[in-house]
Amino acid sequence: MRIPIIAGNWKMHKTVQESVDLVREMKRGLNEIQGIEKVIVPPFVSLGAVAELLGPTSIKLGAQNMHWEEQGAYTGEVSPLMLQGLCQYVIIGHSERRTYFGETNETVNRKVRAAFDHGLLPIMCVGENLEQNEAGETEAFVSQQMREGLVGLTAEKVSKIVVAYEPIWAIGTGRAATGVEANRIIGLVIRGTIAELHNETTAQAARVQYVGSVKPSNVVEFMSQPDIDGALVGGASLKAADFTEITRLAAEVKGTGR
Ligand code: PGA
Repeated sequence: MRIPIIAGNWKMHKTVQESVDLVREMKRGLNEIQGIEKVIVPPFVSLGAVAELLGPTSIKLGAQNMHWEEQGAYTGEVSPLMLQGLCQYVIIGHSERRTYFGETNETVNRKVRAAFDHGLLPIMCVGENLEQNEAGETEAFVSQQMREGLVGLTAEKVSKIVVAYEPIWAIGTGRAATGVEANRIIGLVIRGTIAELHNETTAQAARVQYVGSVKPSNVVEFMSQPDIDGALVGGASLKAADFTEITRLAAEVKGTGR
């Protein structure tokens, strides 16, 4: 059975002090929720302080990006070696990275492989924009992102990956996709492509999150879908009460320990 996973992507929000304050506010409530993985993904500069504050809780940490090289003349970049031991997850290829920072399926693939090589679990983001969606290109586009993102990975690694499906037109816009439609793309295209590349067992083992305007009022719709194992939450993860409520509802829908 796949363990559900909710991750809060803070994006470029919160100073170190604000991060610490926000984690203090949500730590106890989140820690008490069982049967679901809880991941906080603050900006790089806050990772150390947040890690210390979380201590031995059940709450995990993630980074929002990383370079694929271990070190070198890459001004401004953060390497997998630097994240090792500091966090367990790393978001790779978020649509904002692809759109504003030129990330491609090839760089996403390098980063995903580097993450596994350093004991970090990648949350690999895929998803179509509004134009592609309206042109009926969603299936072909997402399938290609999956194929190119997973080049060179063994079935064993792919079975451990978290894929985050983000219909880009639903991010930060308040316009979420429907649960049924997201579930269809996840089952048909995301798991379908993994099954083609590897096998059905691998496709059923990988976890897939929905991304885009998830909030307490719509999380149940997404989590009730059989192929959706969790959510990557942006805006609502910056509010302690909302993020805790989203996580609680998700755990409730999926059933403890499922
Ligand atoms: P949103 O962002 O929940 O604010 O739409 C999600 C994300 O982009 O990770």
